[in-house]
Amino acid sequence: MRVGILGTGDVGRVLASAMIAEGHEVKMGSRDRENPKMQEWAKKHAQRASTGTFADAAEFAEIIFLCTLWSGTENVIEMAGTSNFRGKILIDTTNPLVFEPNKPPRLALGQTDSGGEQVQRWLPDAKVVKAFNIVGNAHMYKPHFPGGPPTMFYCGNDAAAKKTVQNILTSFGWESIDIGSIEGARLLEPLCILWVGYGAQTGTWNHAFKLLRK
Ligand SMILES: NC(=O)c1ccc[n+]([C@@H]2O[C@H](COP(=O)([O-])OP(=O)(O)OC[C@H]3O[C@@H](n4cnc5c(N)ncnc54)[C@H](OP(=O)(O)O)[C@@H]3O)[C@@H](O)[C@H]2O)c1
Repeated sequence: MRVGILGTGDVGRVLASAMIAEGHEVKMGSRDRENPKMQEWAKKHAQRASTGTFADAAEFAEIIFLCTLWSGTENVIEMAGTSNFRGKILIDTTNPLVFEPNKPPRLALGQTDSGGEQVQRWLPDAKVVKAFNIVGNAHMYKPHFPGGPPTMFYCGNDAAAKKTVQNILTSFGWESIDIGSIEGARLLEPLCILWVGYGAQTGTWNHAFKLLRK
């Protein structure tokens, strides 16, 4: 598949490299074509990696990963061009976090709304699937834990899009659970706060969620 990665941070680079490892063609986008992190990422991948603006990456892609700082996300979508998302799967990895000095991050919206729903409203013609937001980037690809594969919960309104995302999650080494429509992002985004809070409390960042059954 042709994959567009909107975002040059840790999440964007990890997922971009993961999709290349899985045999896909990946174009990463940034505000700045010369973004040093993006250029360094591209140099590491001799084949199937390219770079450009947010619009270049969105236009190139059949499937797009949204990996942006929440406060810049609407701006990124505008720069990428809303028509470049039409009919495409958009995997929303973002968390709508507010950062304040000397305070833990908090959600900018929740309970009756979510970042995932906001992204779907900004892009009504895209098939938004929320995934990957509940774990640190170091464990997004091939997560190895003594207790077996962790669980990635995901949600979205389009069944076929969710099936594609489920296949990606399986290829990445996750057990995955579809929790329903994009409103499920109201449940997934607070899990990020729990994940970060546990890390801050214990000083460890090697954890992930798993649903146990019997
Ligand atoms: N870090 C993690 O382990 C982790 C785990 C789960 C979920 N998440 C979520 O995933 C998302 C990405 O996180 P990250 O840590 O990889 O990177 P990040 O630092 O949160 O975001 C980096 C990206 O945001 C863009 N950006 C920032 N401000 C902007 C603005 N005003 N206008 C346009 N673009 C702007 C940057 O563009 P340029 O390329 O132009 O600089 C860059 O591509 C976040 O929403 C985060 O909450 C992170």
